[in-house]
Amino acid sequence: MSSAEGAPLVLVSNRGPVTFQEDGEVKRGGGGLVTALTGLASHRDAIWIASAMTEQDIAVSDEHGGRPFTAELPDGGSYKVRLVASDPGAYDRFYNVFANPMLWFIQHYLWDLSNAPDIRREEVEAFEFGYNVVNEDLARAVLEEIDGQEEPVVMAHDYHLYTLPGLVRRERPDAFLHHFIHIPWTQPDTWRVLPTRIRREIYEGLLANDIIGFHTRSYQRNFLQCCRDLMDLEVDFERGIVFWHEHEVWVRAYPLPIDADATRAVARRPRTAEFEGELLRRRREHLILRVDRADLSKNVLRGFTAFDVFLEQHPEFRERVTFVAQLMPSRTDVPEYAEYLERIEAVVAVVNHRHGTPDWMPIHLKLRDDLEEAVAAYKNYDVLLVNAMFDGMNLVAKEGPLVNERAGVSILSENTGAHEELGEFALSVNPFDIQELADSIHAALTMSPEERKRRLEGLKGIVTQRDPGDWIDEQLADIRKKERGDGT
Ligand code: F6P
Repeated sequence: MSSAEGAPLVLVSNRGPVTFQEDGEVKRGGGGLVTALTGLASHRDAIWIASAMTEQDIAVSDEHGGRPFTAELPDGGSYKVRLVASDPGAYDRFYNVFANPMLWFIQHYLWDLSNAPDIRREEVEAFEFGYNVVNEDLARAVLEEIDGQEEPVVMAHDYHLYTLPGLVRRERPDAFLHHFIHIPWTQPDTWRVLPTRIRREIYEGLLANDIIGFHTRSYQRNFLQCCRDLMDLEVDFERGIVFWHEHEVWVRAYPLPIDADATRAVARRPRTAEFEGELLRRRREHLILRVDRADLSKNVLRGFTAFDVFLEQHPEFRERVTFVAQLMPSRTDVPEYAEYLERIEAVVAVVNHRHGTPDWMPIHLKLRDDLEEAVAAYKNYDVLLVNAMFDGMNLVAKEGPLVNERAGVSILSENTGAHEELGEFALSVNPFDIQELADSIHAALTMSPEERKRRLEGLKGIVTQRDPGDWIDEQLADIRKKERGDGT
């Protein structure tokens, strides 16, 4: 029995479902990937192999002799996890020098070419002695877990693991390898900044997969184009296939849905109600909300500048509207991210100073990751701002409307994966156009109640059409189809 037919699935990603705190407390891993995979792991029997990302994770991994164990989460759910501890120096190069910022920057069009990104020995070594080492460590754990399984199915996730499939394939030609990439796939020229040898290793690693999944058809198309232009391979755009040696790689789009039941359950928690009470006590007539990781791709600064312009151009809204920005500090050991946080705080101070009054602070900046606090705000926003420059999917754009109770309007960047599904009912914006963003804030706050309701109902309808169970079933169905040798 292969795992597409019911044997435990082997999932592998850098970030796992849990991280361990100094006091021994277990915390849910953050981000869209974890949301997707926890949904997946709760629908199917699975073992989840992930990196031990903190010192506490390493200690817990050691306690279990590097073997799988069951991790219970405080708010429910338990996962069979295997945490893999890599050499700390190698891990630092992997995470802080190569995966972020290099790959992440390339795949979000963030690399500032006018500022000459230099690739020196440090970056090349970060690939060789960091990225590849962590991929090898995780591949070894995968091989141990599938040992003895016939035609096992391995599902790898995201940009951290591009060379892992090649390593697994070498030892297990019979394995079915599936890889889902949660971030955009950019156009061919963006990849030319990487040294040719590194670029080849990345593409060769990925092409060892049987199926590669993306959130959208546009990332799927970009990947096919890259294989044709950068690797000189034959591709079939219509059927979504790359021909690689004797092997066909299927390239597909599987847009990630949210787990509506899980989000609604968070909305009902007493702690969420406490945050809501506090929010309602302090709210003005209108509430604008954004919830993001403090990541350069999220375009936080332009969002605040647009709010500044809006207040300047529409002074009648002063003291009547508050902008709540809940931003989770992220990847703070990467200098670009640490500096970005400082710039965010500086811009907020300027806007608050320029427009604030003794009893009104225009922007409330909350630098933390608190799910209940975010969901309390989702229920109560009038405007949800999702203005990422580029974003693989963006689940906030789906979770917010699901639980919103105020006919809130979504302002949504046309460069998010979510826009392919939700664009019709959102106010679409070009995230670089600050005046358009400011105008959209005004349009949202002055829209008729009927139109707001129509849009929100439309969004709720779309985000409840599929759930993570469907998402995984669509992928497993393609795995079975390909295993059986059925057409595309
Ligand atoms: O897909 C992007 C992703 O890997 C998601 O898990 C999440 O949005 C974010 O990046 C998390 O990043 P990190 O694991 O570096 O905190």
